[in-house]
Amino acid sequence: MSIDISQLTLEQKASLLSGRDFWSTKEIAEAGIPSIVLTDGPHGIRRQAGLADHLGIHDSLPSTCFPPAVAIGSSWDRDLARAVGQAVGEEGVAFGVSVVLGPGINIKRSPLCGRNFEYYSEDPLVSGVLGTAHVQGLQSAGPGASVKHFAANNQEAERMRVSADVDERTLREIYLPAFERVVTEAAPATVMCSYNKVNGVYASHNPWLLTRVLREDWGFDGAVVSDWGAVNNRVEGVRAGMDLEMPGSNGATDAQIVAAVREGRLDEALVDASVRRVLRLTELPHDATDELDVDGHHALARGAAADSIVLLKNEGVLPLAEGASIAVVGAFATAPRFQGGGSSHINPTRVDVALDEIRALAEDRGSRVSAAAGFPLEAEASASEVEALRAAAVEVASAAEVAIVFAGLGDREESEGFDRDTLLLPEAQVALIRAVAATGTPTVVVLSNGGVVSLEGWHDDVAAIAEAWLLGQAGGGAIADVLFGTVNPSGHLAETIPLRLEDNPSFLNFPGEQGHVRYGEGVFVGYRHYVTAGVPVRYPFGHGLSYTTFRTDAVEARAVGDDAVDVEVTVTNTGDRAGKHVVQVYVSTTTGPVRRPLRELRAFEKVSLEPGRTRRVALRLDRRAFAYWDVEIGDWVVPGGAYAIEVGDDASSVVAAQTVTLTGDAIVRELTMESTVGDWFGHPVVGPQLMAGLAASMSPEQAAQAEQNADGLRMVESMPMQQFLVFTNGAIPIEALEQLIDLSKTPAPAA
Ligand code: BGC
Repeated sequence: MSIDISQLTLEQKASLLSGRDFWSTKEIAEAGIPSIVLTDGPHGIRRQAGLADHLGIHDSLPSTCFPPAVAIGSSWDRDLARAVGQAVGEEGVAFGVSVVLGPGINIKRSPLCGRNFEYYSEDPLVSGVLGTAHVQGLQSAGPGASVKHFAANNQEAERMRVSADVDERTLREIYLPAFERVVTEAAPATVMCSYNKVNGVYASHNPWLLTRVLREDWGFDGAVVSDWGAVNNRVEGVRAGMDLEMPGSNGATDAQIVAAVREGRLDEALVDASVRRVLRLTELPHDATDELDVDGHHALARGAAADSIVLLKNEGVLPLAEGASIAVVGAFATAPRFQGGGSSHINPTRVDVALDEIRALAEDRGSRVSAAAGFPLEAEASASEVEALRAAAVEVASAAEVAIVFAGLGDREESEGFDRDTLLLPEAQVALIRAVAATGTPTVVVLSNGGVVSLEGWHDDVAAIAEAWLLGQAGGGAIADVLFGTVNPSGHLAETIPLRLEDNPSFLNFPGEQGHVRYGEGVFVGYRHYVTAGVPVRYPFGHGLSYTTFRTDAVEARAVGDDAVDVEVTVTNTGDRAGKHVVQVYVSTTTGPVRRPLRELRAFEKVSLEPGRTRRVALRLDRRAFAYWDVEIGDWVVPGGAYAIEVGDDASSVVAAQTVTLTGDAIVRELTMESTVGDWFGHPVVGPQLMAGLAASMSPEQAAQAEQNADGLRMVESMPMQQFLVFTNGAIPIEALEQLIDLSKTPAPAA
């Protein structure tokens, strides 16, 4: 139904641009405009029926808690992300939710960010591809998505006012592409602007971000919603394209909009544009169906969780042998940590407990299971209580043939709202792992954590490590499935596990100070830094083991046109059980005028293979796989030259590669008197003319001298032409240079 907004008064229109209460918009009954509900969240529906809040404090109606983004990110599986998105959308319809606030697709700049559990990856491609699939799935079920938090919201410290100071190339190449992909490929109903400032201007009234980039460059035609309470200047916000303020201000900011229009400070056409965009949201489904597929969605959550677990290390102890006696120790085995704190907090329909699930599977296999808590979850426990728990666990482990330690981070250690200051596991847990391993019983560590934890100090003592992240309500069953081999693990790290916090490229600039956080590492985020600077890590981005083995044979890469490449990769399952493999395609180049990371992930595909089977996987790398953001031109540029197409088991291990040469873009780089001598001589059109002119004006002796003096030329290469002229004593007439400046504006011939 389309509403004629010319029938609405200015006051009515302004009223539509902010919420009625915490989770809903205002209705205008006489105009047939309904109120709609927007609610969290990323991995399940948090529908509050009583007291409302955005910090996960008050209760919400039971819904399925699917694996949070940290887990889905590690699955590298777009079909899985789509299926989870669709199920979240279906639950949204059940609860009458029109807009579901998620997914979160911010980049994990620092492993310390308290909200990393809500984000997919340190890499923009993984974040963008999985975010796109989630939004497509969610919106196919009916509701609209709200992709968040736009933009450069990569920490919790000072999140409501810090200025993320990021250069444009870094924004375009690292922090914006995931949003760009979701917007251009999945057309989310809304984008949620973040709390923070971007380069000094609040995201909620940042015209560069919300209009120039989002709408003009990417063609977004949905509505921008504020993060809850993110509005700082409502009138500036309307001007910048921030349509819907949530949760609303009890009419105060609506009145500001009205006054600004009346006083001629705000164009009413901008208000109308925002109203039209908000009205489109009211066409989304909003009547609750109350139909919840509790069992089906729990099963989906279990499968998704299992495919997200990353087997980091395995010295032959997994999958667990039939009949082995198993000691299960660690408090998370009985008190699962399966979701993070804050606005994404779900009241789950049920929760799988790992110990129960292990017992159930062990019974079928003739295994005995004994258990001990191993460490306290309460911070107040005394040293003697900690010791007693550890001693009891050591006894249980000593008597078993294999020990499984459930370690990780508690709600106290990580959450929305604050960042961590260490990667270390709590001391009592490290002591437990070491003590259990010291019994000589082969030890498996299962980790439950939303942000990366350090494995140092105990990694070498244990036989296997499974990174089980936060897996949602069915995580306990999924862990049992992987331990016993019912599911062959296929997760891969979507973020690096460093040796030391200090090695992380954001270390010196996180979380900033005096209101600013400087993204000083530029595009060298996560593995882009580690592989380029040769910094050793514990486990690289992309790493993940399986119970079977895969072989990658030939890579065939062939240029398509000037700036795209078709790649074919052959993968074989060389082991004896079915499994899933992730083909990771990286691009590496030194061509072009800017410093590039040693390699960057540009395509990936998860494939399922029966033992002995081979598959050819075809992938297209489009121009963006080779482009960098050129700040002088203000656009993407593909420089002509050689590009290595590398297939890696992870970001550090290339298993097959082939180089292709691309023609690239014909760049018009205009010369000025400030351009350097090197720029002038290196210019594809002007350079040759300048050379020819100089050669013609030189005597053979001068030419021979110039040849000999090549080093001298290097010394003036970086000198601006203006200064160079001073030293040439008028040898190059300024008129000739002016003509050459005009000539520099013509496109260069293709290389
Ligand atoms: C969070 C958002 C969330 C909103 C509503 C905010 O504090 O940053 O991610 O969607 O609250 O709960």
